[in-house]
Amino acid sequence: METPKDQHSDFNEQVSSPSFTHSPVMVDEVLSYVSIAPKGLVVDVTVGLGGHSSAILESIEGSKLLGMDRDLRALEIAESRLSQQFAGRYRLALARFSDLTAEVNRLEGEDFIADGPRVSAVFADLGVSSMQFDDPERGFSIRSDGPLDMRMGPTTSNLTAGEIVNRASFDELVSLFQTQDEPHAKRIAGSIVRSRPIETTFQLAELVEKAVPFHFRKGHIHPATRIFQALRIEVNDEANELDSLLSQALDLVMPGGVIVVLSYHSGEDRVVKDRFLEASTGGCRCPKALGCVCGAISRGAVLTRGAKLPKKTETETNIRSRSARLRAFQISGGE
Ligand SMILES: C[S@@+](CC[C@H](N)C(=O)[O-])C[C@H]1O[C@@H](n2cnc3c(N)ncnc32)[C@H](O)[C@@H]1O
Repeated sequence: METPKDQHSDFNEQVSSPSFTHSPVMVDEVLSYVSIAPKGLVVDVTVGLGGHSSAILESIEGSKLLGMDRDLRALEIAESRLSQQFAGRYRLALARFSDLTAEVNRLEGEDFIADGPRVSAVFADLGVSSMQFDDPERGFSIRSDGPLDMRMGPTTSNLTAGEIVNRASFDELVSLFQTQDEPHAKRIAGSIVRSRPIETTFQLAELVEKAVPFHFRKGHIHPATRIFQALRIEVNDEANELDSLLSQALDLVMPGGVIVVLSYHSGEDRVVKDRFLEASTGGCRCPKALGCVCGAISRGAVLTRGAKLPKKTETETNIRSRSARLRAFQISGGE
């Protein structure tokens, strides 16, 4: 996948006022962690429609922010939202998680951060935004018909869900679906291979529904949910992106600074939990009773014992928050 060339472009082209809404999840909890970081640059690597970014800029006085997203349309909306209130306090970049360090380094010498790009916090709100999910043309939703696309960054990547569905071998499809613990991976993969070409989300959803045993068709989640999730994760290389994000953030954030991650499915949450735990122990596995004899060096402390969940009042009003899990880590050192 090529790296976009126009990062830090101004996104100042005329954008009609956002027609999509996206209520940012667990905003108070996110702010409570980001605000303990020392003064520096906050990087929101999932600026999306600018909900969390505007809350950070509004509530942390004098804060400066770099907002990244791989979706140009999201950046246009974020720009139209942030420019009205926070001009001069933020930059936006069309970039992926794996570009984090490069994007921060590109700010060197920019007036808007007088003392250099010292990163005080990295925040990530994983997954797709409502804008992406609700637009049938993006192909993320089982419930609206559209092309099998699922690219979060259609201007920066070529692989679509349709290409995987129509070109992958039976075995490749089975192992992809099994990454999401799909119990009927073989039946579904077989049905896909026999029915190709498959062009639309409705075609795929219907085919999966027919492929699973009858009593699985009427559960509270659609039988194609795991299949759509597996395809989306593959199309957007989400596992590698998250891994790269966490590695880079742990190296980049200044002493006393924080990394805050909101995830929405158990696979992602497990990765974040394990990486934070490993960073806090430095990878030490010495028996507790003996104390550490391996010389491992802790990189900081996990701030969230168990993932933090949204309040009931939030889950009642914001459906997307229901599966949210927040984890935070603080780099050691600082005042
Ligand atoms: C849940 S939305 C963020 C919503 C945002 N917090 C708000 O309040 O509006 C996630 C965003 O992250 C972006 N994204 C997901 N994975 C990414 C990646 N690897 N690199 C860059 N952006 C990514 C998506 O394009 C999407 O716009």
